[in-house]
Amino acid sequence: MSKTGNSVRPMESRDLEMVLRWRNDESVRRYMYTRHEITLEEHAQWFKRAIVAADRHLLIFEREGVPLGFINFHEKGPAGIADWGFYIAPEAPRGTGSELGKTVLNYGFGSINLHKVCGQALGFNTGSIRFHEKLGFTREGVLRQQHFDGRTYHDIICFGLMHNEWHKPA
Ligand SMILES: CC(C)(COP(=O)(O)OP(=O)(O)OC[C@H]1O[C@@H](n2cnc3c(N)ncnc32)[C@H](O)[C@@H]1OP(=O)(O)O)[C@@H](O)C(=O)NCCC(=O)NCCS
Repeated sequence: MSKTGNSVRPMESRDLEMVLRWRNDESVRRYMYTRHEITLEEHAQWFKRAIVAADRHLLIFEREGVPLGFINFHEKGPAGIADWGFYIAPEAPRGTGSELGKTVLNYGFGSINLHKVCGQALGFNTGSIRFHEKLGFTREGVLRQQHFDGRTYHDIICFGLMHNEWHKPA
């Protein structure tokens, strides 16, 4: 744990039900590409596959030892370029996202030694768009009407942050 009380650790099977509760909450689900309510069995199958994949890092963000968020880095090939996805616990206090972002980017660029982190946000996810911008990501492009939610097409906003652009917070 750092001086700030923030830390990150690998997700374990004991976290499954907690992470599923977060993922299925409307405050998270509405911003995901798949919006149906995920069953525990489906979630467990996903975890079983993802936990053994060398190109995936499933992480839990904790503040003072209390789990408050989930993060997934998915490396695309051997060059240290990874997509990330994340969500915070619905009950997490305001400001948790920023703490999660800083802690996990330190981990990604430090412990995993990533070269670049890429994020994608749905065009209406103003919270995530602002979140990426605040962390110093560059808006690299828009995939116009690239996501269909069953009723409407939505833009996807692509973000990128290189290791040498990451100004590690004090
Ligand atoms: C995105 C997320 C991690 C941000 O966490 P958070 O705790 O709300 O973030 P913070 O309180 O630290 O705020 C960080 C910045 O994001 C912006 N922000 C957060 N929520 C916002 C909202 N609802 N609308 C607009 N901006 C918002 C603010 O600009 C804020 O900075 P500021 O208060 O200095 O202006 C969180 O809302 C979340 O898990 N959302 C659901 C899942 C999701 O969208 N994941 C990303 C998929 S791409």
